[in-house]
Amino acid sequence: MRHLLKLEGMNEAEARQILSLAKKAKKARAKSSGAKGPLTGQIWALIFTKASTRTRVSFEVAIREMGGVPSFLSAAEIQLGRGELVRDTARVMGRMVHGAVIRTFAQNDVEEFAAYARIPTINALTDDEHPCQILSDIFTFEEKRGSIQGKRVAFIGDAACNVPRSWAAAAKIFGFHLACAAPKEFRPAQIGKHVSWTEDPAEAAKGADILYTDVWVSMGKEAEAATREKVFSLYQINRKLVSQAKPNVLVMHCLPAYRGKEITADVLEARAQDIFDQAENRLHTQKGILEWIVSKPLKKKG
Ligand code: CP
Ligand code: NVA
Repeated sequence: MRHLLKLEGMNEAEARQILSLAKKAKKARAKSSGAKGPLTGQIWALIFTKASTRTRVSFEVAIREMGGVPSFLSAAEIQLGRGELVRDTARVMGRMVHGAVIRTFAQNDVEEFAAYARIPTINALTDDEHPCQILSDIFTFEEKRGSIQGKRVAFIGDAACNVPRSWAAAAKIFGFHLACAAPKEFRPAQIGKHVSWTEDPAEAAKGADILYTDVWVSMGKEAEAATREKVFSLYQINRKLVSQAKPNVLVMHCLPAYRGKEITADVLEARAQDIFDQAENRLHTQKGILEWIVSKPLKKKG
């Protein structure tokens, strides 16, 4: 059996053999082309600074089912966690893996990573956005209720965090209205043609096709938990609020859910089929995102 525990004591012939094998491997890799799944022959790094269940598992499964290999890297366990720069981490990753899925705090870090790694990079949640979640949520709504165009989505809770921010961006893209109910200090940043804000949850819920909520305390905001629980106490999806929306309203939650806080246990259990279909759809949508990312841009018509 061989080990490589140290270079001290290794003879030149052995060392040369390793270098020669490396050269061969590099050549072979440059030539290999994906044949079966769209990610065949690809290795994707999943670099996560924050906790995750749905996003992590759906990406790991999607990448494998598409022929690729995921490599999960907790930021705390790589040199990034000890202060190595994002740009240096990116330069290394870009030379070794084919794509990256990143969950972190600053949006700028994901952007810097993409710029320096020069490999397809996916935002798996930052403080600013959660694009994969909202694409998946729109997929879920349309699967269950038809086109989202012209519909009313009521977001109840912290309307300044990543999930509603991506909803606001989607409202403009897909042509629907996002009605946010939030305390003043947590109102959405993008109020305008497609996004409105009120402090009254009932007003936002009126006529809503979707009633949506997210945690009161986003990852990274734990120090504000006590104050947030006070200011958000009235921003809850409960039976009364559901009755104020359209009769066929779809109750949605990106999860994880905290029963008795942003949603009552009875509403969550009564709507569990839809809410966990929503969670499952993360897997199918991640595949769509990955395939889109690795496919060539569509040619312009005409
Ligand atoms: N909704 C969502 O992104 O869940 P995770 O934090 O478990 O990935
Ligand atoms: N706003 C939440 C979303 C969790 C999926 C957070 O950032 O923690």
